Amino acid sequence: MFSRFFSRVGLLAAPFLALVMAGCSKADMNVRQSTLDPKGPVAKMQYDVFMDTVWLVVVLFILVGGLLVYAVIKFRARPGDEDAPRIEEGHGNPLVEIGLITASIGALVIIAIPTLSAIWYDDDVPAESIPTSKLSAWYPRLEGAKENYAKVVEEQVLEIDVIGKQWWFRFEYPQLGLTNDAKRSVPNEFVIPKGKAVHINLRSEDVIHSFWIPKIAGKVDLVPGRKNHMWIQGDEVGHYYGQCAEFCGDSHAYMLFRVEVVEPAEFAKWVQRQKADSLPVVAGSKAETGKALFAAKTCMMCHNINGNPQAAGVFAPDLTHVASRKSLAGAWLDNRDPKAQLAKEQETLNTEQSVEIDRDVLKANLKKWIGSSGVATGADGKPTKDVKPGNRMHFYQAFSVSGLNPTFAPLIDAAENALTEAQAAAAKALVDAKGKSPAELATIKKAGDEKVVAATAALKKAREILTPEELDCLAEYLLTLK
Ligand code: CUA
Repeated sequence: MFSRFFSRVGLLAAPFLALVMAGCSKADMNVRQSTLDPKGPVAKMQYDVFMDTVWLVVVLFILVGGLLVYAVIKFRARPGDEDAPRIEEGHGNPLVEIGLITASIGALVIIAIPTLSAIWYDDDVPAESIPTSKLSAWYPRLEGAKENYAKVVEEQVLEIDVIGKQWWFRFEYPQLGLTNDAKRSVPNEFVIPKGKAVHINLRSEDVIHSFWIPKIAGKVDLVPGRKNHMWIQGDEVGHYYGQCAEFCGDSHAYMLFRVEVVEPAEFAKWVQRQKADSLPVVAGSKAETGKALFAAKTCMMCHNINGNPQAAGVFAPDLTHVASRKSLAGAWLDNRDPKAQLAKEQETLNTEQSVEIDRDVLKANLKKWIGSSGVATGADGKPTKDVKPGNRMHFYQAFSVSGLNPTFAPLIDAAENALTEAQAAAAKALVDAKGKSPAELATIKKAGDEKVVAATAALKKAREILTPEELDCLAEYLLTLK
C-alpha cells in the first residue's frame, strides 16, 4: 500500500525535481572545481554541449514519463475488471515503430551536431582567436625577452608545454625561455594572460595523466610517447584549480595544479620574475644553515634553485620561487590562511578570489611536507610518508651511496641489523633459560627487552635524517625563495 503510494508520488515528483535541479543558480555551482561555472571559451563550449544534452533528456523524460503516468492511471485495475474479457494482443503498429526509430535518430542527430562542432572547436586555437592572441600583439618587448622574438614567434600564439610526472605537473614556456633545459621551468602553478588563447602541448614522462581545469577546459590525457594538444583561455582574472583526471598511481588524487589568470601586463612581469635568481641568504641566519643543509642532505641532487650553484637537479620541481607559490606538494598543501580564504570565497561568492600566502602556513607546510616524506621518523620508528603516499622524495636516500653524504644508508643498515640481532638474542636467552625460577626468568627477560628498546632507539636515530632543528633551518631557507 505504502510502496505503491510512494512509487506514484515518485513518478510525479521526478520531473519536478529535475526542473528544480536544473534551475539551481550559477552562484550555487561556484565551487573550486565546477564544470558548471565556465570561465573561458573552451569550458563554455563544453558546458553548452552538456546543457544541450540535459535539456533534450529532460524533454524525453517528460514525454516518456508522461505517457507512462497516463497509461498507469487510465488503465489501472478497477473493481470488477476480473470478469472483463482479455484485450487481444496486437503485433505492433508500423507507424509507431517507424516513428519512434525516426525520433531516436533525430535525437541523436540533435546531440551530434553541437558535440562534433565542440570537438572541432576544442582541438586547437580557432582562427578567429589567433590575431588577438599572437605573442607580438600583446606581449611587450621587455629587456631580456628580446632573444625570444624570432620572426616565427611574432606569428605564434603563446605555447605552454605541460609535462606530467608522478605526481606533479611541470610547465614550460619555450618561446619565453622558461624551460627545464634552461633551468627555468614552472612546477604546479602556471600563469596565463587574461583573454588570450594559449596553445597547450601535453606530454608525460612516466604514465598516463590527464590535464583538467574544470572552469577553463578539460580533459585531455598526457600519454607517454604521444604528443597531445589542446587550447585554453581564461576570460576572468583569478586563481583556478586543476586536477590530474586519470588514475596514475598511489598519489593520483594528490596530483593537483593551479593556474593563475592575470592581466597581460601582469603576465609580462611574472615572466621577468621567473627569470630572476633567488636572493643571497643573510650571513649567520637560520636560512644560511638551511642552504648548507640543502646541499648536505642531497636535496640539490633533484631540485634546481637558480642563485644556488650547488642546487642544479632537473628531476624534481624547480624551487627557485617555491615561496611565491600558493600551494606545495603538487598543489596538495595550501599555503594560504584557510579561514581567511574561506571568508573571501564566501564574501565574494567566487572561488577564484584568493588571499595572499601566509608565511606561517607556508612554513608549517614546508616542514610537514619535507618531514613527512621519508626523511623524518614516526612514532613507530619508520620513515613517515603520510602527506603524499608513494612520493619520490624519500628516494634521495639512495643518493647517499654517491659519497655526498656517506652517513645515511650504511648507518641505517647497521642499526637494522643490530635490532634484528637484539631481538633474536632476547628470544634465544628466554628459550635457553627454560626451567629456571620465575625471578631469574624475569631478570633475563628484562635484560633482553632493554637491549631491544636500545636498538630500536638507535635505529630511529639513524633513520632521522633531519633533526627538528635542521628541518626548521631548511624551511627558513626555502622561505627566502620568492
Ligand atoms: Cu597523474 Cu593521476
